[in-house]
Amino acid sequence: MEFPFDVNHLFSERISVLDHNFVAGPKFLGRADLQTHIATVIDDLGRASAKAQTLSAPVTSASKLQSQKHQLYVLKDGEGSRNRGREVVVGFLKVGYKKLFLLDRHGVHVEAEPLCVLDFYIVESLQRHGFGLELFGFMLQHKNLEPVLMAYDRPSPRLLSFLAKHYCLMQSVPQVRPAAPVFPPAHNSLPLASVGPLLRPVVNNFVVFDGFFLNKAAVQLRKAPLKKPDGEIKPYSLMEREVVRKEQRTLPWPFALPHSPQRSVSSRPGSVESSPSRVPPPVTQPPSPGSNKGLSAQSPVIRARHSRYGLSDHSCIWTAAPSYAGWKSSGLP
Ligand code: ACO
Repeated sequence: MEFPFDVNHLFSERISVLDHNFVAGPKFLGRADLQTHIATVIDDLGRASAKAQTLSAPVTSASKLQSQKHQLYVLKDGEGSRNRGREVVVGFLKVGYKKLFLLDRHGVHVEAEPLCVLDFYIVESLQRHGFGLELFGFMLQHKNLEPVLMAYDRPSPRLLSFLAKHYCLMQSVPQVRPAAPVFPPAHNSLPLASVGPLLRPVVNNFVVFDGFFLNKAAVQLRKAPLKKPDGEIKPYSLMEREVVRKEQRTLPWPFALPHSPQRSVSSRPGSVESSPSRVPPPVTQPPSPGSNKGLSAQSPVIRARHSRYGLSDHSCIWTAAPSYAGWKSSGLP
C-alpha cells in the first residue's frame, strides 16, 4: 500500500506497535502532520481490510484506535525492485483484551479476558508471501504469548486457514448452544414474535481453540457466576465486528467443524495452490526490552522461518499440546 508521503519517516522500524497515542516517540510531539499521516495509513488499512472481508464498515480506524485500548502492529517492507526501492505498508494486525463469556468443552460458561485478534490484513498482492506469519509471530513474541491462548473475533476463512497451517489450531471449542426456551411468566400470552429473542441459541462470535481453557492464569479464566438462568447470560463481549460478515462460504474439514460460529463459513476458492516464496525477511525483534524472554531456537519467528523457507514446510510452528506449567493447579477441568 503506497502513500503520497514517506512511510519510512512515520515508521522507523519494520514493524511498529501503535496504541491510542498512535506512535510513541519524541519526534511525533507537536507534529500534527505526522499524526495526520499515520491516521491516513490506519484508515486506509482499515478500509482495505473491511473490503477484503466484505464487511460493510471498517473494524479498524484511527479514531477507533484512539478511543480503545487496542494495539496495532503495522508492517512495512521495502524489497528493492518490487517496490522500486520505496517502503510500502504491507499490512497490520490489531489485538486487544476483551472480557468474554465463553463455553468450555463441557458447555460451562467461563468468564475470561484473553488477548483477542480483532483485525488482521495483508495487502492483496502480498498475501501468501509469509508477511502475515512475520507479523503474527512478532506480536506473539512481543506479548510473550502462544496463539492457543488468544481468542479470535469472527475469524475469516483465510485466518482460520492461516492458524491451521502455521499454528495447528484446528479444533475450535464450540460456542453455540441452543438456549432453553424461556417464557417470562407475565408474558405467556404474548405472540411468538415478541418472545423470539428469548428462544435464540446462545452464540459467541469469538473463536477459541482446544487448549485455551487449560491455562487459567494466562487467559484469566473464572467460572461465570450463575446468578441468572443460563439463557440470560450474555455470552459475548461487546463485539468489535457489529456487522455481519457477508462472506458465507464453507470451509472443508479441518478448517470447518460442525457447530462452531465459523465452521460453516467458507470454502477456499483458488486457495489450493501454495504460497509463492519470497526471500526471508530480516528477523524483526519486538521493540520492548524484556519482551524477548523465553526466546529460543523454538521461538515463533525462528520457527516461522524454518517452516516458511523449507526446513519443515508442512509442520506447524506451534503444536496444540503445550506443557503448561501450572495448569493442573488451575482448578479447571
Ligand atoms: N485463501 C485461503 N488461505 C489463505 C489465503 C487465501 N486467499 N491467504 C492466506 N491464507 C492462509 C493459508 O493457510 C496460507 O497458506 P497456503 O498458501 O500454503 O495455503 C497462509 O495463510 C499463508 O500464510 P502467510 O503468507 O503468512 O499469510 P498472509 O500474509 O496471506 O496473511 C491473512 C494472512 C492476514 C489472513 C491474509 O490472507 C489476509 O489479509 N486476508 C484477508 C483479510 C482477512 O481475512 N483477515 C482476517 C480477518 S478475521 C480477524 O482478523 C479476527
